[in-house]
Amino acid sequence: MRIQAIRIHRHGGPEALQLDEVDLPAPGPGEALVRNTAVGVNYADIYEREGDHGGPHAAKALPITLGHMAAGVVEALGPGATGPAPGTRVGYIGPAAYASCTLVPAARLIPLPEAIPDEVAGGWLLRGLTAEYLVRRLFPLGPRATALVHAAAGGMGLILGQWGAMLGARMIGTVGSAAKVEVALAHGYEAVIDNSREDFAQRVLDLTGGRGPDVIYDGVGKAAFERSLDCIRPRGMVVSYGTASGNVGAFDLQRLHSKSIVVTRPTLRSWIAEPDEVAAATRALFGALGSGGIRAPVAQALPLAQAAEAHRLLQGRALTAPVILVP
Ligand SMILES: NC(=O)c1ccc[n+]([C@@H]2O[C@H](COP(=O)([O-])OP(=O)(O)OC[C@H]3O[C@@H](n4cnc5c(N)ncnc54)[C@H](OP(=O)(O)O)[C@@H]3O)[C@@H](O)[C@H]2O)c1
Repeated sequence: MRIQAIRIHRHGGPEALQLDEVDLPAPGPGEALVRNTAVGVNYADIYEREGDHGGPHAAKALPITLGHMAAGVVEALGPGATGPAPGTRVGYIGPAAYASCTLVPAARLIPLPEAIPDEVAGGWLLRGLTAEYLVRRLFPLGPRATALVHAAAGGMGLILGQWGAMLGARMIGTVGSAAKVEVALAHGYEAVIDNSREDFAQRVLDLTGGRGPDVIYDGVGKAAFERSLDCIRPRGMVVSYGTASGNVGAFDLQRLHSKSIVVTRPTLRSWIAEPDEVAAATRALFGALGSGGIRAPVAQALPLAQAAEAHRLLQGRALTAPVILVP
């Protein structure tokens, strides 16, 4: 069948994104054909477009159909595929989601409960599953923990603040401009530091009586990492989970020595590698979203053809909620 897909034929800026008509084969053994209804726009797509981030985002052979997740409807199953039946609403984490239809391993499909609309799954499934492992498994938050979250009014920041607060932790956020302070305060944060006016490391030390937070969730990377080491508490953990401002790069391991700091650089794919992990993580996420404990707004739904505009908005620090693409 002919489908529409946003592809890149070279790495580069948003202008490299191109709407193509391509042939999609029938689903093969174990595969499902999903008609995408709400495609997620995540930083991973920007790394894939730029092609120089390495690790799980190492450059692949061109052309590439961009995308890492979507919600949609199962249209057909390939031979031997055991998964949700045709007609089922599903979400998935997987490549080539910037398209009207995508072939997905059927076993990786996540059926969506009625309480989770397609646009919420499209905007939040990847971020929500990431927040789940960050606050429940990698550094389990609880009433005695204080967490500092960078980019607190961004997609990840909004869900980390709410989930951490739900677990009873004291949540402190940083944002890049005054306009974002109120947004973060409305999503679980007890205090929000405006980086354009204050030094976050000094301020978070003041807010914690000189001790520092127990954990720092850092999705900003280059611009925040060194100062995060300066203010984390002794034996605390700096979770470098994203690099919106650029890769952290090489640093001196001795920086960790005097405070016995733990630094980790995790990726969602190793935290939902096993089917039982996906099942448990989605149960927790859908429970939190369905109960209203976590609010999951979507800023805008743009046509698939406007994917470049969505990238500009996300990379331009203009968003305080995710955008989705609608094929
Ligand atoms: N490791 C994982 O498993 C995993 C999974 C999902 C996402 N992530 C990471 O999580 C991070 C956040 O993802 P998101 O999609 O929700 O994005 P987002 O937080 O909505 O957007 C990124 C935010 O980073 C801040 N920022 C600081 N310096 C920046 C710069 N130089 N350029 C652009 N932004 C800058 C901006 O907030 P301010 O203006 O407030 O500073 C911006 O809004 C990304 O780095 C992503 O790769 C990691």
